[in-house]
Amino acid sequence: MSDQTNNAPLRVGLLGLGTVGQGVLSILARNGASIAERAGRPITVTMAAVRDTAKSRGDLPEGLDITTDPMAVVNSDSVDVVVELMGGIETPEQFVRAALQAGKPVVTANKALLALRGEALFDLARQHNAPLAFEAAVAGGIPLIKALREGLAANVVSSIAGIINGTCNYILTQMDEAGTPFADVLAEAQRLGYAEADPSFDIDGIDAAHKLTLLASIAFGIPLSFDKVHCEGVGLVSVDDIRYAAELGYRIKHLGIARLNNGGVELRVHPTLLPKSELLANVNGVLNATVFGADAASPTGYFGPGAGGEATASAVLADVVDIARGASMPGLGGPAASDLAVLPIEDAVSGHYLRLRVADVPGVLTAISGILAQAQISIEAINQKEIANPGSDTNVVILTAPVQERTMRAAVEQMMALDSVRPGITRIRVEHTQ
Ligand code: NAP
Ligand code: HSE
Repeated sequence: MSDQTNNAPLRVGLLGLGTVGQGVLSILARNGASIAERAGRPITVTMAAVRDTAKSRGDLPEGLDITTDPMAVVNSDSVDVVVELMGGIETPEQFVRAALQAGKPVVTANKALLALRGEALFDLARQHNAPLAFEAAVAGGIPLIKALREGLAANVVSSIAGIINGTCNYILTQMDEAGTPFADVLAEAQRLGYAEADPSFDIDGIDAAHKLTLLASIAFGIPLSFDKVHCEGVGLVSVDDIRYAAELGYRIKHLGIARLNNGGVELRVHPTLLPKSELLANVNGVLNATVFGADAASPTGYFGPGAGGEATASAVLADVVDIARGASMPGLGGPAASDLAVLPIEDAVSGHYLRLRVADVPGVLTAISGILAQAQISIEAINQKEIANPGSDTNVVILTAPVQERTMRAAVEQMMALDSVRPGITRIRVEHTQ
């Protein structure tokens, strides 16, 4: 690594020159001088690896060495810091490992890599005393990792609730405001560079689960537990649900939730009804926001662009600046390892929105409410929607008080067994996050 005690440039090698990689170049081209002042030394990108060197990439810095061999970037004597922005898991893992083994600091925006392979990679970083920084991996341009492990370092954190996938929030917002069909909005999110290379990671909630895995580990000191996150995507939400929720005073957002509950931790990602008055209910488009509950400063909220080239590159460069300053990077940086267990979803507690398609027959509402009463589930609202034609099916919408998931599942099974209830009950959890 070049000498950090003088003002020699810190030389960055990029693995990937796509949406985020080009964002890094454009911010450095515009703000390089002020970044150098803050970092105490200039930051220059000397090498970049791509798949296709013939692709058009706008203005590139003079002298930038472009290669199709990422290992050449990792091993280059003209690269002090490796910035991984290629995506994927196995492929980038080998380059991140090689860089750390060579003692080179690594910055990555790759939440999938860290959520699945982070334990081994952070160990390797510690062994080789090489920082592995990942501010951009959670909530794009929002400095959420710093807020959690530095700003809230004096707190015992009890809950995390966040809109942490920009693509899902963009989709739900467009469905709400313009009634645009799901597939059209997804195509637009892809065009704008928000979606993952495989957009099912966004819409199925996997990307949010990767990010929640990292946040929960920092907040609660638990191991990275991606395989224990209960994960539901936005696909189950219809324009009708958004409208019915609004009539009841709620908006539907796709949330990641990690919460202490009775000596364990709930870890879940799913569409959620939130009261319209809450901060998270009013965060729209590609914006992300997260609210932390804690024992000293609480609640605290963080809001900003969750995806996009320059927004994400802003967080990447914040890590590079830290490295240029010689800051010590504490790995995940959570509290000491805790023995908190991740709870099964059946133990989670939340309110529920239910939408049932029912036959227009006398007694159907009584039968449904009877099942809920017997299960001791309190009904906060129940509405039967207008019937288009006499004798045709209609929608019934129910809002319940908080109840344990297993109790609600059993009640829904009983409802599905009723002759008057059509197959396919929609169930969306209801939360209060402030
Ligand atoms: P992207 O636009 O698809 O860019 C990926 C880049 O990596 C491309 O330049 C590609 O080369 C290069 N690449 C991929 N595989 C390669 C290989 N085997 N060898 C050499 N080069 C390779 O992706 P992105 O949106 O910038 O995302 C990059 C990372 O940031 C991902 O981990 C993503 O999850 C994360 N992230 C993205 C955002 C966002 O808003 N986009 C936000 C936060 C985090 P070609 O250009 O030649 O194809
Ligand atoms: N695909 C991700 C999102 C990118 O939409 O939030 C930012 O991590």
